[in-house]
Amino acid sequence: PFIQDTYLVNGVLKKWSGEFTSVYSTISSTEEYAPTLLGSIPAMGEAEGNEVTNAAFEAYDNGQGLWPTMKVIDRIKCMQDFVTQMKATRTEVVKLLMWEIGKSLADSEKEFDRTVDYIYDTIEDYKELDRTNARFTKSQGINAMVRRGPLGVVLCLGPYNYPLNETFALLIPAIIMGNTVIFKPAKHGVLLISPLLEAFKSSFPKGVVNIVYGRGRDVASPVMKSGKVAVLALIGNSKSAIALQDQHPNKNRLRLVLGLEAKNPAIILPDADLDLAIQECVAGTLSFNGQRCTALKVLYVHESIAAEFNKRFSEKVDALPFGNPWEKGVFLTPLPEKDKPAYIQELIDDATSKGAKILNKKGGEHSENYIFPAVLFPVNKEMRVYHEEQFGPVIPVLSFKDIQEPLNDMAESNYGQQVSLFGRDIKTIAPLIDTLVNIVCRVNLNSSCQRGPDVYPFTGRKDSAVATLSIHDALRSFSIRTFVASKDN
Ligand code: G3H
Repeated sequence: PFIQDTYLVNGVLKKWSGEFTSVYSTISSTEEYAPTLLGSIPAMGEAEGNEVTNAAFEAYDNGQGLWPTMKVIDRIKCMQDFVTQMKATRTEVVKLLMWEIGKSLADSEKEFDRTVDYIYDTIEDYKELDRTNARFTKSQGINAMVRRGPLGVVLCLGPYNYPLNETFALLIPAIIMGNTVIFKPAKHGVLLISPLLEAFKSSFPKGVVNIVYGRGRDVASPVMKSGKVAVLALIGNSKSAIALQDQHPNKNRLRLVLGLEAKNPAIILPDADLDLAIQECVAGTLSFNGQRCTALKVLYVHESIAAEFNKRFSEKVDALPFGNPWEKGVFLTPLPEKDKPAYIQELIDDATSKGAKILNKKGGEHSENYIFPAVLFPVNKEMRVYHEEQFGPVIPVLSFKDIQEPLNDMAESNYGQQVSLFGRDIKTIAPLIDTLVNIVCRVNLNSSCQRGPDVYPFTGRKDSAVATLSIHDALRSFSIRTFVASKDN
């Protein structure tokens, strides 16, 4: 087993001598896919929460610390040093991504490489932001030079489905803008941060990056309660975000950067290219077993094509290869959360008890931490799978007669991230787009939903997000505009 027994605080890799929490893997060489011990991480609490908070707070020093006052060019050098060292950890991090969260080899490599690219692109965008800011502007006799300044201590909490990439989409812009950070890795996908500790330690001045482990309520609560956090940056669920936010003694001062839940629908119009729609819906619903906030989580198919779509879609789902992440061509893998298969089964049972059928032959087959995706039809609003963000392999399908039906459902939903729209007739599609962009934040034409490329805005309405996470927007989310003004004499 892999023992993570150091943590990074105030520039020191400190040895942990307290209690440990076990980390399990659900991938194995047996067919059972039962959780087996993979390693252990420190079970930290209040003392360590306070320790990292003080380190980050002192390093920031109310904006007067070494890091927030450092020249842009020097901060960039530190970030370049970090990414150079990070690249050397690729094999180790990719291996741990597979073992910890069951992500396929191809997707784990993609996650690593996308993160490296993200860092390089952030550096370039940061240079551009600095160049733009360095210009003088003049209005009504006042000359101004705008700057972008840091905000203070940022608490970063990332999700288990992208423990490297999405976490770094918070961490990297927060750091480069001159903030100091406290980072607690997700529950699954935590060991893979270990190979990066040395790079964090040696690339940045002491106290700029502080890393802790443990349960949020034990170690992140004292951080929030201290009142020293300026930004809560979290990708995960709204329940955790609200709980943490509520612990801050001065919530008015807290900036939020949150990527939360979604229930992205696909709408398949009668004239859609069915081959394309099916291919995109399979990938959209089941990439990484549906454990993506951008996954398609409900399909609306026009009643005139529902029978054909359902038959061909279900056959395609049944043909998806399942196995361990390193196996060639594998698409479906075991789930890292030990309670997830039982939860998915509950959703299936609830829907079938209320009249839905499992359309695909293999739907719901399972052993311990593996459950084969179930395609459910016809789903209605009485069923839990219609309302809940399943974040796993179960696909609710509804048919509609009038386009207003899915539009009304989307407008009533608590979520508002993205939609996929499949159809050919531009005269039908164009006015629909105008309506949909006021309900969600991204309309994907004849393609599934996704976050990237990282230059495009990634955000959502209602309970789906607070703030925007393209590289461009993230640099702004983690900073404030200040300026120097002088009068014409
Ligand atoms: O889990 C939510 C992620 O933002 C999904 O990202 O669309 O690149 O897979 P992705």
